[in-house]
Amino acid sequence: MKLLSKTVLCLFSLSLSLHAEDITSPDGSITLSCNLNENGSAVYQVDFHGKTVIAPSALGFTFLDAAPLSQHLRVAGSRVASEDDTWELPWGEKQFVQNRYNELQMDFVETGDAPRSFSVIFRVFDDGIGFRYRLPEQPNLAEAQITDELTQFRMTSDPDCWWIPGDWDSYEHLYNHTKLSQVNALKETVGTPLSSSILENAVNTPVTMKTDDGIYLSFHEANLTDYAGMTLKVDTQNLSLSSSLVGSRNTAYKVKRELPFSTPWRTVQISDNAPALIDSDLILNLNEPNKIGDVSTYFTPMKYVGIWWDMHVRTKTWQYEGGQHGATTEYAKELIDFAAQNNLGGILVEGWNTGWEHWIGFDDREGVFDFVTPYPDYDLAEVVRYGKSKGVELIMHHETSAAVTTYDECMDNAFTLMECLGVHAVKTGYVGDVIPRGEYHHGQWMVNHYRRVIEKAALYNIAVNAHEPIKDTGIRRTYPNAIAREGLRGQEYNAWSPGGNPPAHLPTVAFTRMLSGPIDFTPGVFNIKLDPYTDEYQVNTTLAKQLALYVVILSPIQMVPDLIENYQGEPAMQFIRDVAVDWQESHTLNGEVGQYVTIARKERNGDRWFLGSITDEQPRDMEVALDFLDPDTLYKVVIYADAPDAHWDDNPCSYTITRKTMRKGDALKLHLAPGGGVAVSLTPFRK
Ligand code: NOJ
Ligand code: CA
Repeated sequence: MKLLSKTVLCLFSLSLSLHAEDITSPDGSITLSCNLNENGSAVYQVDFHGKTVIAPSALGFTFLDAAPLSQHLRVAGSRVASEDDTWELPWGEKQFVQNRYNELQMDFVETGDAPRSFSVIFRVFDDGIGFRYRLPEQPNLAEAQITDELTQFRMTSDPDCWWIPGDWDSYEHLYNHTKLSQVNALKETVGTPLSSSILENAVNTPVTMKTDDGIYLSFHEANLTDYAGMTLKVDTQNLSLSSSLVGSRNTAYKVKRELPFSTPWRTVQISDNAPALIDSDLILNLNEPNKIGDVSTYFTPMKYVGIWWDMHVRTKTWQYEGGQHGATTEYAKELIDFAAQNNLGGILVEGWNTGWEHWIGFDDREGVFDFVTPYPDYDLAEVVRYGKSKGVELIMHHETSAAVTTYDECMDNAFTLMECLGVHAVKTGYVGDVIPRGEYHHGQWMVNHYRRVIEKAALYNIAVNAHEPIKDTGIRRTYPNAIAREGLRGQEYNAWSPGGNPPAHLPTVAFTRMLSGPIDFTPGVFNIKLDPYTDEYQVNTTLAKQLALYVVILSPIQMVPDLIENYQGEPAMQFIRDVAVDWQESHTLNGEVGQYVTIARKERNGDRWFLGSITDEQPRDMEVALDFLDPDTLYKVVIYADAPDAHWDDNPCSYTITRKTMRKGDALKLHLAPGGGVAVSLTPFRK
């Protein structure tokens, strides 16, 4: 990691006679103030361009065996600091990230006998705010058994809200769009994913809002480490959200920590336009620098094929028994050949290892998978060897079926096997209710498990793509081997879920789930009607939109999931061959939450640009100024667009390919069909 400009850090103590402090963002647009109210409780408030966007809101904790830490406080001290540095992402949406903020730390102490103390550290960036609690070592509190945080976000109006329920086990829900006052998460308990626990009217984060006067706010958290995931309980009467941590049925507390410790950052991205939410680096900036060193020695961003969609459209099976086993040596080699011919660097093989006869729908799932024993028709070493001979690397698959202790016990063996074979990436999965029973996917116990996997994988030079994961909170900055994750309703729902993912799903995801980090969504299905696999379901998209997703959705690994025969002879395949997966810079050119979004990205280590634009059910015609292009350069532009008669439902595969020569300052006219999209490649050919 290279520090590009020196940190400017200035600390000075303030002698407080008044108990109110405020700081502004470096550009002056956001002001945060913190003070004590009449009960001696700490409250904070946030203003944006002079308008209050978060009214005075509570801070503090409740504990299992101790009184709440929130009232009868005095300010023991405060200090301010600022920072402006630039750091480098080893892969991702851009190479250089600016980290510029002003900081205010407030130290609070109780006024009574046996007082306890805590600090709140606020950071105010140009694109939002973050704050975290710090509980220092102290005589009257050795260990915190936290039953909840009292952290509150009080809104000043009833904003539009794009939300999924605060499910303690799954993020695989469709987004709802309602006023905050109409949020009803409990209705989502009907028709939920396999493992689902919705206990109260709460939402998961990131949750994105738009006020009537056009201010966008997205609430999330950064650096979720040794703590429970935070959902936000909605008070629909008083228009406020308050922290509700994910618990456990095995303990009466939700988080247990010895002091001293700091909580994750609670974050609010704030902007007067929706695209700026996507371009914000706030979550990454609130994580710690790289702790594991250079991952480029073993991980290169790539596109990959898989023995995967076959199982979701039910032409093959994960299990060996039954005669339709997908993961055979022969089929893997066929896919490796296809990958090598099409500029795709990886192959995922699911169902390669014994145990799939007993992975789902059983209570006794411990000890079923050992992650090292292949089925008899799959020669693991030969697949790896053949892949390497063609420049295609294997992505290992570890479905744990949420038998987490088994995985903890097997991980060293499994990673040793990968190391011996020279395999450097793994897709993990946690389908089903967590074993040990009583733990939830998003509680402190599982947060610590997911982190153990990342840390252990790093020791074996392995990159991790987790499915059914804990949400991303920007830890890829600290652990750049955490390359991608699921944590949303991915493409697979289109293969087997009634209604699939409607056209508005991804224009919503771009402004919600994607704010947290890379997504293994697996775009690129060309057989959109899923004919002849099923007449019940289809992918609710046009083919051109599938191409656009390679640019819109951020991930350093992008799958090319469809069955080989569906790509054969298809001219649009050229875009998939060409498109990059690692970026020098990215710009969100336009967009509205849940409606449409257009993103342009420049490849890393090259001069090509790519642009993707997607829409919901509404057709759109737009002009995009090519201001982002490099000056004095002519580009060969290839536009893969919905044809005039394209429609996600009636005519999804109708597209045109148009070639043009363009330069910076030109305007690109784009047509997006209902449920459609456009993908564009721009290759420099002359100065
Ligand atoms: C769920 C994952 O999301 C999916 O991609 C995978 O194929 C199955 N689990 C089996 O591991
Ligand atoms: Ca899943």
